[in-house]
Amino acid sequence: MPGTFSSLRAPVTFLWALSLPRTHADQTTTITTDLYPQTWSGWGVSLAWWANIFGDREDLADIVFTTDSTYWSPGDETLPGLGLNILRYNAGACSWNTINGTVSMVASPNIPKAKQMEGYWIDDSSTDPSSSSWNWTVDANQRTMMLNAQARGADTFELFSNSPMWWQLDNLNPSGASDGGSNLPTSQYTNHAIYLSTIAQYAQENWGITFTSIEAFNEPASDWWVSTGTQEGCHFDASSQASLIPILYEEMQARGLDQTIIASSDENTYELTLEGWDTITKATEKAYVGRVNSHGYEGLSGPRSDLRAAATSAGQLLWDSEYGDSDSTGATAVQLIMTDIRLLQPNAWVHWQVIDSSDWGLINGDITTDTLDGATTKYYMLAQFSRHIRSGMRILNSTSSNVIPAINQDNDTLVIIAANWDDEQTFTFDLSTFSQVPDDGTAVSSWLTDTSGDNLYTSDDSVTIENSAISLSIASNTVQTFEIYGVAI
Ligand SMILES: *[C@@H]1O[C@H](CO)[C@@H](O)[C@H](O)[C@H]1NC(C)=O
Ligand SMILES: *[C@@H]1O[C@H](CO)[C@@H](O)[C@H](O)[C@H]1NC(C)=O
Ligand SMILES: *[C@@H]1O[C@H](CO)[C@@H](O)[C@H](O)[C@H]1NC(C)=O
Ligand SMILES: *[C@@H]1O[C@H](CO)[C@@H](O)[C@H](O)[C@H]1NC(C)=O
Repeated sequence: MPGTFSSLRAPVTFLWALSLPRTHADQTTTITTDLYPQTWSGWGVSLAWWANIFGDREDLADIVFTTDSTYWSPGDETLPGLGLNILRYNAGACSWNTINGTVSMVASPNIPKAKQMEGYWIDDSSTDPSSSSWNWTVDANQRTMMLNAQARGADTFELFSNSPMWWQLDNLNPSGASDGGSNLPTSQYTNHAIYLSTIAQYAQENWGITFTSIEAFNEPASDWWVSTGTQEGCHFDASSQASLIPILYEEMQARGLDQTIIASSDENTYELTLEGWDTITKATEKAYVGRVNSHGYEGLSGPRSDLRAAATSAGQLLWDSEYGDSDSTGATAVQLIMTDIRLLQPNAWVHWQVIDSSDWGLINGDITTDTLDGATTKYYMLAQFSRHIRSGMRILNSTSSNVIPAINQDNDTLVIIAANWDDEQTFTFDLSTFSQVPDDGTAVSSWLTDTSGDNLYTSDDSVTIENSAISLSIASNTVQTFEIYGVAI
């Protein structure tokens, strides 16, 4: 999560503010049989703060990591499970012990307790994970959520760091340097690498969790990680990242982590990720990294296609590994997801927090006061995507930027997600380019959510196939998802 959000703009709000006249331009979209290059590997969320506080709630694990319906008592509502299969586990940077009798953590006066993630490596007297320098019982809630998620089907785990352990840092403060500059001395790069790879090895041997990837940085090029900050953070410029990555690679190899790749560098924007990636690839002659991670805080602008091209040419996987906003209607998030899918073409898309205040969460709540409330409309908007475009599916091209199709080629299921930001109008989805389409009159399953919350993942079973097409009226500010069985390219 970044320290500033000034670049974020809600385009729909912008249109409303201008009061542009709305037209009834009925929309016909050809669903093409052109497969986008990437295979979808899922939807995810970062654990960290919300799991630090609420990680032992099994109802939350059901809601986030299954597709079952679950009663959510704080909102007195039954939620359709999001069925996320990816989670990012945060390796903490804090501990409250004293080292050598006098050295202890310096904490920012502004970091709330709930955002102080407790780390496993509590002093530098031993790298041996079975020694008393490591405390494997800390951070129980976040670990509980990870294991409950795995038991419910989550299959992809990333270990990520916001800051190295406090005692590795120049100023012993895991929120950052006083000026937002470098805070990890180069003499400690190996220790940061040992910390992360030891957690991954321990998780494999003791928790039954094989991390798919390790990410050593979080928005590292940004300069908002300061000693008075409100969260853990650490600045690394791109050349420092390029120095640390091979060290991490060596420490992972030394621990036999051959099923785990390095992901980098989780910059705040596509632009910063692209710039950093360029420096990293020029500085390291070997492909130490296996996936490019970028955060999506650049809104609808930014060089998505260039970042996709860079990842493709380097043979890298690509994730939008973090996104959040304060638009509780979900309209801003939906536009961002659709733009990502079309232009960034990530393999996966990861939301920042499940529970948060100021409408930043999918479900409202406050980690600093231990309070929970109801789901936002944004929750249901994400369900329109995450319950239907599933791991293993392929994205298809369409002739409309507000219509995202995807296909499951194993069982011939076509998914179409359409967003109507205009007046109520007729949408037609032309399927005539497919070699196999269901007969006329075949019923199509569909679900819809609108920004006003009148429909929250409501079923609409009135839609049928006619003449190899679907045609229906969709209300304003509505997202509707269709599943059509028996469609083949
Ligand atoms: C603790 O003391 C040892 C021995 O002098 C030293 O090597 C180590 O760096 C010290 N640890 C910290 C965190 O200052
Ligand atoms: C390890 O962490 C647990 C949980 O925070 C704490 O109760 C315990 O005292 C710690 N053990 C040591 C040896 O510091
Ligand atoms: C999708 O189709 C449009 C034309 O409708 C084309 O401009 C675009 O390059 C295509 N994108 C992909 C990824 O195939
Ligand atoms: C197709 O397979 C997916 C899982 O891969 C499943 O969720 C979906 O229900 C299946 N659809 C049909 C029509 O069997």
